[in-house]
Amino acid sequence: MSTDTRTPDTPSPDPAATEEWRPRGGSPEHSEHAEAWRAEQERVAGALADRGFDPDQRLFDGGPTLGEIADQWRRISILEVGPIPGIKWLQRHSQKLAIDRRVEDDLWRAYERQSRDELDHGAYWEEMYFMLTGLAAEEKPWDGIGEGGSNVQIQVPGDVDDPEQVRSMIFLGSAFALGLESGFAEVSFPTLQKMLRASDLPIARTFLPLLRQIGRDEARHLAIHRYAFHHLVGRHPANTVDNFKVAVNAARASFGVPAVTEKGFEKHVGREAPPTTELVLGPDHLRVA
Ligand SMILES: [Fe+2]
Ligand SMILES: [Fe+2]
Repeated sequence: MSTDTRTPDTPSPDPAATEEWRPRGGSPEHSEHAEAWRAEQERVAGALADRGFDPDQRLFDGGPTLGEIADQWRRISILEVGPIPGIKWLQRHSQKLAIDRRVEDDLWRAYERQSRDELDHGAYWEEMYFMLTGLAAEEKPWDGIGEGGSNVQIQVPGDVDDPEQVRSMIFLGSAFALGLESGFAEVSFPTLQKMLRASDLPIARTFLPLLRQIGRDEARHLAIHRYAFHHLVGRHPANTVDNFKVAVNAARASFGVPAVTEKGFEKHVGREAPPTTELVLGPDHLRVA
């Protein structure tokens, strides 16, 4: 946990401000957990073989092996739930914004919904992994969140009380989240969909609708960060469009996704805040007049 002792008189220096929300750890290959991951891969290969699959089979030319796919699905399930402590931080602090009760309410509900979505997403991937390997983890991968194993985890800042600092950190935290989620939506997700469509695995047909649901949820998450951007830009010396962009790109770089283009940035932040209906959908979409 980092502790921020700045006061409103000493605003965040630009790009360094993004340090508040930084990825930690590295890919499993480069971490102390590499050996555990290798052992796990061997275990998965054995499980696939027990189910009659060849772990070295490639689903299509140049594509990943079944063993790699299983490993990838497991990692994504962790990746989906990894940012939840960060989302909870944003939710908690959205109640200290001191700008507009309606904005605070909207963000509280949006982050609440997002936390639930990400848990669901983690469970979807975990289920896909189970369908392929038959390995049912008594301890779910997310039980170990924060103890390694994921290739993107967020260093959640310590709690802050000063309203100006809160506005700045939510602004930059939103940028970081937008970077992670836009990278996933633009690069990782289409690849996964393509891979599933190209495969002849019967479970692909089962899971493509789940993937579409994840895609819809992720579009809503991007709207949350766009909403925070429009309500907070300019409300603190650190809340500039340039700083937002720096934080977006830092998040994308943390998992190897290229920097956002001008056009992509414009698309993601839009011209104005999205309506509440875009942040929270479904039967829990209520508005107190
Ligand atoms: Fe997700
Ligand atoms: Fe998301």
